[in-house]
Amino acid sequence: MCGIIGYIGPRNATSVILNGLRRLEYRGYDSAGIAILGAHGIHVTRAVGKLSNLELRMKNEENDSQFSILNSSFSVGIGHTRWATHGGVTEHNAHPHLNDAGTVAVIQNGIIENFVELKHELQAEGVRFRSETDTEVIPHLVDLYMKAGMPFVRAAFAAIARLQGSNAVVMMSAQEPDKLIATRLGNAGGIVIGINPDEAFVASDIPGILDYTRNVIFLEDGEVAIAQAGQVGVYRLDGAPVSKQRHVIAWDPVSAEKGEYRHFMQKEIFEQARAVTDTLRGRVNFETGEVTLESLALTDTGTGRHGDKGITQSPGRPVTLSRIATVACGTSKHAGLIGKFLIERIARIPVEVDYGSEYRYRDPIVEPGMAVLGITQSGETADTLAAMSAGKERGARLWAIVNAIGSQAERMAEGVIHMRAGPEIGVCSTKTFLTSIVDQYLLACALAQHANVQTFERSNVDSFSLARDLAHLPGLISQTLKPDPIYEALANRFHDRRHFLFLGRGINYPIALEGALKLKEISYIHAEGYPAGEMKHGPIALIDERMPVVCIAVQDGVYEKMISQIEQVKARGGIVIAIATEGDDAIGRKADYVINVPAAPELLTPALTAIPMQRLAYEMAVRLGCDVDQPRNLAKSVTVE
Ligand code: F6R
Repeated sequence: MCGIIGYIGPRNATSVILNGLRRLEYRGYDSAGIAILGAHGIHVTRAVGKLSNLELRMKNEENDSQFSILNSSFSVGIGHTRWATHGGVTEHNAHPHLNDAGTVAVIQNGIIENFVELKHELQAEGVRFRSETDTEVIPHLVDLYMKAGMPFVRAAFAAIARLQGSNAVVMMSAQEPDKLIATRLGNAGGIVIGINPDEAFVASDIPGILDYTRNVIFLEDGEVAIAQAGQVGVYRLDGAPVSKQRHVIAWDPVSAEKGEYRHFMQKEIFEQARAVTDTLRGRVNFETGEVTLESLALTDTGTGRHGDKGITQSPGRPVTLSRIATVACGTSKHAGLIGKFLIERIARIPVEVDYGSEYRYRDPIVEPGMAVLGITQSGETADTLAAMSAGKERGARLWAIVNAIGSQAERMAEGVIHMRAGPEIGVCSTKTFLTSIVDQYLLACALAQHANVQTFERSNVDSFSLARDLAHLPGLISQTLKPDPIYEALANRFHDRRHFLFLGRGINYPIALEGALKLKEISYIHAEGYPAGEMKHGPIALIDERMPVVCIAVQDGVYEKMISQIEQVKARGGIVIAIATEGDDAIGRKADYVINVPAAPELLTPALTAIPMQRLAYEMAVRLGCDVDQPRNLAKSVTVE
């Protein structure tokens, strides 16, 4: 979960940046680096591992005459803690990255979706890359534009305009040393800018700068800031200035943590592109599509059947995986239902999904060679833990998908995939839902790709290309999070309804279940989720002109079927709120309201259609004045049966 800090002003930039990075340490990282403008240009120091390694290295360099600050009244620099996405954990992959001449330094959070194309373009111009990162394309692009005659700031804007995906980027240049350029593209990384009368700070997270200032502005998607000591200008990519509201961050830690958002749930919804970026970090090679899950060894290491955190068997024998039994509760169970679809489609391994609270009471059949997979964000849900134990006692391999590090589920399981969603404070699960879907997508690809795993049937799906599709996911999530007045409009129109129906089919059927759960748990409106094809077997009797029906009808394999369900709802006077693919004009003629999500590969659609469910429930709960973050009778960890 990368951290960004930048400083420009009279203080010692090195100590401001190191202090800020220390404040962000809790987010986790694998390497760190800093670029400071010195008397002889930009000086970069990087180190693998803890910040203390970087500090030690900097101390050793202090006597080096190269490393003296520019002058005593003005200091500028940027620093970064990296958690690898592209390329291994090495010093040369740590940020900041430089152009050939060492005059432009760049740090970045996110995934540059078109980095392979940009890299090839730059290589054709004779650029030699020193790292395996996607970030390195940025300083070289800026350099290319500067060589073509643009001054630094214009070159920076031109380079930023070329980046696809969801990213936060900060850069500095020896050519215009009095400026830091920062941008936010999508939601994979926030950018907050702190301003004091004679200095400016840039950070990925508020805690990084709170020791120095409480006066901040937040960049929105597509904005670029030019930060100078004591002043900041914000522009759109086309150069048009943007007038920004300044916020004063209150002193209490809760307000500081919530930042620009009204509720934690809102913050966590809008953090999802970033959370998913973190989920993907270091697990997918976006050039080859190979997936590696660090603590779910699928290799035969010869450590015995229940090897260390993996599914290993005796040496030389391939692992046979007859089926997977997923056990989970609530939102995590809905994620499991999507995982069933993904794992069966991609890896051809049969998956059954049970409520944690039911599994052990139905005397489940467990045979050697099957895996029980517990999904739990808290890692402490009593029913899920009991179901996991039941599977383990009967001889299944035990895996877990968890968010809370060190939780019971993690300790019990032999193989663990972390959600990496970061802390989720709102009781209502949002970003842990998306990240557990992505974890299962990765698991499905890893199982399909691993020659040592014998599956039920040979998969003929190209799991490598499916894994490469994941590079687009943070960007697609960002697009789904764009401001949209429809949510408030729907809340105003329907907050007085006592019942809602949610319909979906195929891989989006569990999203209907999740939409209904979100709405009922935070707004206390009764809602039911149904597979759309089941409507005619009962629920259709509920439909009249007072019943809002949310229909997930994106352009996937069951689109036509969903259209006919919408027609059936309309024929009975129901009100249709359709979740549809952007550009699908036909659906607008059938539905009463349309919420758009961007076009995406079918297997990624649930990670997008889940977002309107969350936003709709949130707006409805706010409109009704409910306690969004702590809904009545609910708890974040349900540790009782
Ligand atoms: C709904 C929600 C709950 C949890 C359920 C399981 O928003 O948060 O339904 O999903 O209590 O919790 P975990 O995932 O911690 O096992």
